[in-house]
Amino acid sequence: MAVHGVIGSGEIGSADFFSVISAGKEERECKLLLRIKAPNDYKGSLRPLGKKFGALADEVEALLQYAALSGLQVVGVSFHVGSIAEEPVIYRHAVAAARAVFDVAAELGMEPMQVLNIGGGFRAATQVFEEICDTVKSAITDYFPKEMAVTIIAEPGRYFAEKAFTLATNVIGIRARGERREYWINDGIYGSFSPTMHNSSLVSIKAAFCTPPVNEPPAIRSSVVYGPSCDSLDEVTAASGEIMLPELQLHDLLVFTNMGAYSKSVGTNFNGFDTFSIPTYIAYS
Ligand SMILES: Cc1ncc(COP(=O)(O)O)c(C=O)c1O
Repeated sequence: MAVHGVIGSGEIGSADFFSVISAGKEERECKLLLRIKAPNDYKGSLRPLGKKFGALADEVEALLQYAALSGLQVVGVSFHVGSIAEEPVIYRHAVAAARAVFDVAAELGMEPMQVLNIGGGFRAATQVFEEICDTVKSAITDYFPKEMAVTIIAEPGRYFAEKAFTLATNVIGIRARGERREYWINDGIYGSFSPTMHNSSLVSIKAAFCTPPVNEPPAIRSSVVYGPSCDSLDEVTAASGEIMLPELQLHDLLVFTNMGAYSKSVGTNFNGFDTFSIPTYIAYS
């Protein structure tokens, strides 16, 4: 029988509960957090994680009882509202749901829980991040008052990585269709632009010219950008539709900002374009 929702400090997401129970002494000694599904995650984040991960409210009591009977220490609760949270209120709902788990644990006579892990989902330097901070602070004040002495932790991923890296690609092919321009670049959805992990509306695209235009500034044209593979789905700007770009020549650069999260690390070598061979340069200023 598989029971979902228990994770440990070493992250055993959606684990088969009995494999945890039958684990060795070290696993029994580790402190576990019960991962819950964040309510409304599918409405408030671009990439909800709750279909695959997290206990439902009506599964919590049984999980805590199994843990207690097995001598496992569940010391708190974790949730992840989903990557790229867009509705701050989902954090409030998740904090409230976490508090309900603390209450169930208390009703079962367990040691008071001590840790709340509010997961990730944050984007740095955005208005919504400021709003999420306010929402989380007020939810914690309301549901986890100081006297509970709960340690609050988080697992930001994209927040740290996203803005740290800019991706420079080369224009390797051009097609003119009337006024419109279509560009092929040497990276695509099987490389740094994995469509399930990435949303092209999050990045900004800038053109950089290898040969500066001689006379006039280049014409601004409706453009589409394709990746290099044989797949017609390999369109880097698919989520943005047609975009306006200055007219580019072969070997010019297209530069994408905010490319540090879930980009190169999830790429493949499909069609021989090996994402891991893309060099990374670290610039100091
Ligand atoms: C358990 C867990 N914690 C943290 C993160 C980081 O999430 P984000 O990049 O949305 O902040 C992820 C990402 O999938 C995750 O699965």
